[in-house]
Amino acid sequence: MLSVKSLICHVMITPLLFVFPCVVDTDQRGILRPKVPYIGNSVFRLYSEEGSMEDTCTVNPLQPHTLTSCGFNSSNPLIVITHGWSVDGMMEGWVLRLAKVLKTSLGHANVVITDWLTLAHQHYPIAAQNTRTVGQDIAYLLQTLQENFQFPAKKVHLIGYSLGAHISGFAGSSLGGSEKIGRITGLDPAGPLFEGMSSTDRLSPDDAEFVDAIHTFTHERMGLSVGIKQAVAHYDFYPNGGAFQPGCDFQSLYQHITEYGLMGFEQTVKCAHERSVHLFIDSLLNKDKQSMAYRCSDNSAFDKGVCLDCRKNRCNTLGYDIKRVRSGRSKKLFLKTRSQMPYKLYHYQFRIQFVNHIEGLEPSLTIALTGTKGESGDLPISFIEEISSNKTYTFLITLDRDIGELMLLRFHWEGLALWTNMWNRVQTIIPWSSAGNKPLLTVGKISVKAGETQERTTFCAKTNDGQHVQVSQEVVFVRCRDDSPRQRRRKLHNLSSVSVHQIEHL
Ligand SMILES: *[C@@H]1O[C@H](CO)[C@@H](O)[C@H](O)[C@H]1NC(C)=O
Ligand SMILES: *[C@@H]1O[C@H](CO)[C@@H](O)[C@H](O)[C@H]1NC(C)=O
Ligand SMILES: *[C@@H]1O[C@H](CO)[C@@H](O)[C@H](O)[C@H]1NC(C)=O
Repeated sequence: MLSVKSLICHVMITPLLFVFPCVVDTDQRGILRPKVPYIGNSVFRLYSEEGSMEDTCTVNPLQPHTLTSCGFNSSNPLIVITHGWSVDGMMEGWVLRLAKVLKTSLGHANVVITDWLTLAHQHYPIAAQNTRTVGQDIAYLLQTLQENFQFPAKKVHLIGYSLGAHISGFAGSSLGGSEKIGRITGLDPAGPLFEGMSSTDRLSPDDAEFVDAIHTFTHERMGLSVGIKQAVAHYDFYPNGGAFQPGCDFQSLYQHITEYGLMGFEQTVKCAHERSVHLFIDSLLNKDKQSMAYRCSDNSAFDKGVCLDCRKNRCNTLGYDIKRVRSGRSKKLFLKTRSQMPYKLYHYQFRIQFVNHIEGLEPSLTIALTGTKGESGDLPISFIEEISSNKTYTFLITLDRDIGELMLLRFHWEGLALWTNMWNRVQTIIPWSSAGNKPLLTVGKISVKAGETQERTTFCAKTNDGQHVQVSQEVVFVRCRDDSPRQRRRKLHNLSSVSVHQIEHL
């Protein structure tokens, strides 16, 4: 089992505990690689079945037989969970929860918890400094597995939260050799002392075959943010923009206090940071409700709904089931989520062209969607810019359930009293020629794209007078008559060439 070279290494290490690279080992492909030193401040706990932290079995990388006796099965993949900075020196509740969910939903998997609490329960800068050491301990464990069980690094998935994300990165970069770790997932990687650092001093796409990260608390205060803002992976997810998360505001504090007692305060503070973990757990628990995220330049562009495109790997699944597509550059992906599990929301991009007869309107309207499987209820829409003539407006709408294929839209203009008043004034100044009709706003066309299905639909007004939407009115739009799949494909190719005029004559 033990090779001669590594035996020498172990014999030398065991009595010392603090050692430097002791043997230059060769990996399977014969490339020279120095063995990383084992500092031994981290405890590796193999999670067996449902149970508490005390039920875990401690494996010692210096004594490979402990892996066998703890039940490590080298036919199965290995997942290593690494926690972050610790304020109270206690293992946080999510660690066991994640371990349990991984074990139950994946069936066959070795789940190891890195316990570096003694190094993590320090002032933040010290804990941050310790991350490199802990990363080396993990690399040492992985080398032991390679040597004693021919366990390939590509079967390893490191999942690190906060400082644990950078630890996982250091584990990957310390491993050396030609074979990289299969996957690293960074759950809201820590920001302070890592933001803006060179790629060798933080988690980066170089640290594994595939790296993904979920950023959930990048809200900046006094130049610092708890979670790192910059992209550090192949795919970087920014749920709800990444700065802060729904359900984490201080209004939820009282609810958290009722739920957790005085710990509720801490729960509120950690809420957005730890959301990254729960989004990942959600992806394992709710397999039928996988959250889809879309590549976008920034969050304000995403809010306009212009980014719901899945061509050329521009979209991907958040969490465990991510599609592993490697690319040179980091991709930033955005999505909206609910405030609790299951977090999935369905994204729709709306494009509406207004042919407006007075300049500078700031309308507020609600829209209700009816699909083949259900209805949405009234959704308020706010326009970022005021509405002016012949311009196409685009915005994002999210729904918390699947209402099937869209069939019908119902528009309702708000602020009636004010509007009618204003309208009457306008009318007295400019007498309109048309008989009775008040062509306040004319809606040219409405096209809707569903992010999750990538389906496009166009809608036409159901009224007799075309698309004339008046104040105080509710207007119903139905699928345009030509909205058959074949026509739709044609329109998709020259969407821009479809004019208001054409729609009016459908
Ligand atoms: C290891 O796991 C495989 C399934 O992946 C199983 O068939 C085998 O029996 C396990 N070995 C031991 C010793 O439990
Ligand atoms: C908007 O379009 C309509 C019809 O195409 C046209 O008559 C009108 O002059 C346009 N208004 C502006 C401000 O371009
Ligand atoms: C799309 O463009 C082609 C030529 O570029 C044109 O012949 C066709 O009518 C257009 N289709 C629509 C629906 O506008």
